[in-house]
Amino acid sequence: MKVIAINSSPRIGGHSKTEMMLNSLVHGMRNAGAEVEIINLRDKKINNCIGCFTCWSKTPGKCIHKDDMTKEIFPKWTEADLVVHATPLYNHTMNSTMSTLMERFLPAIQPFFEEDEDGKTFHPLRSKVPKAVWLSVCGFPEDSEFKTFSTYLKSLTRKEAPIVAEIFRADAESLVNHLYTDKLKDVLDATSKAGMELVASGKITKDTMSRIKQPLHNPQRFAKLGNIFWKSCIAEGVTVKEFSEKGLVPRAETVEEFMLLFPYGVNSKAAGDGKVVLQFDFNGKTNESCYFDITKDNIEAKKGGNNSPEVLIKAPFDLWMDIMTQKADGEKMFMEEKYTVSGDLSLMLELFKKDA
Ligand SMILES: Cc1cc2nc3c(=O)[nH]c(=O)nc-3n(C[C@H](O)[C@H](O)[C@H](O)COP(=O)(O)O)c2cc1C
Repeated sequence: MKVIAINSSPRIGGHSKTEMMLNSLVHGMRNAGAEVEIINLRDKKINNCIGCFTCWSKTPGKCIHKDDMTKEIFPKWTEADLVVHATPLYNHTMNSTMSTLMERFLPAIQPFFEEDEDGKTFHPLRSKVPKAVWLSVCGFPEDSEFKTFSTYLKSLTRKEAPIVAEIFRADAESLVNHLYTDKLKDVLDATSKAGMELVASGKITKDTMSRIKQPLHNPQRFAKLGNIFWKSCIAEGVTVKEFSEKGLVPRAETVEEFMLLFPYGVNSKAAGDGKVVLQFDFNGKTNESCYFDITKDNIEAKKGGNNSPEVLIKAPFDLWMDIMTQKADGEKMFMEEKYTVSGDLSLMLELFKKDA
């Protein structure tokens, strides 16, 4: 099976979730024996269709432009058995780069009018065109974000060249967060499996699709975490790319935000087979307390104090946030008695162990 995979994401270097998903799909297709070529539209020169209809009149089937579409992509597309269109979702549809490409497929259509079985007028195809797979990712957490796009794609579909699969992954930006390492692996494994299934049987099983679409968190949590992230980007004066390249950490401004973020940095395995309680008594900007019930599989955040925490940290709120965001050295601040720890100090060190 000959496949061309056309990627319209402008982002590169691990930042593009479209590319990440596409690479897994292609990996699976190649493993199943397909010959797949990836075409990144960001490297190509594709002019806009100028609506001259030269390809329908003076030179039937031939576009007037001389660019990467006419020289390379169109010929490869007509020879392919399957085309994968991979696009980020922009404004509920394909991005403009993919849309520009789609308009340039006009030479594949004849100008004549025919009527289908429902009495609807249409233009017949000039020659064989490949079946299609559409892959898209988006930022919002709900799968319904793709509804308009899916309806639109159906309106583009012809029975001679059906869409065999729509692979849509919502909440794609969160996928690469270290909180979801296991889920990311499962989503990418499932996407690779989808590639194998498409080559083997021409469709994706329900089970594989539901693994691809698995939710990461509820929309309320998504919004809270997202807002802390964007506020941190703005406060640091960095782009999203720079935030990740500099290894920055989102900063909590309130105890509630801290309770939401903190569990993600804790080595919960340090709790062993039991439960440990880690409490913070903050001072300075706020005098609130909170504590975390930690077992190896779960961390529950609670407001207020616990009577018998295994570890109690008393710290100025802003100082502790400086330590969390690597702006202050936790060990140095401890030696200088800027905060205190009571209880099991070695347990605390284990709980805070990085990359455990
Ligand atoms: C101009 C623009 C429009 C977007 N529109 C939507 C949208 O309608 N719905 C959505 O959930 N995400 C939207 N997003 C977010 C992208 O879909 C998301 O960041 C995705 O990961 C981008 O794909 P990439 O990682 O391959 O670049 C938009 C992003 C941009 C830059």
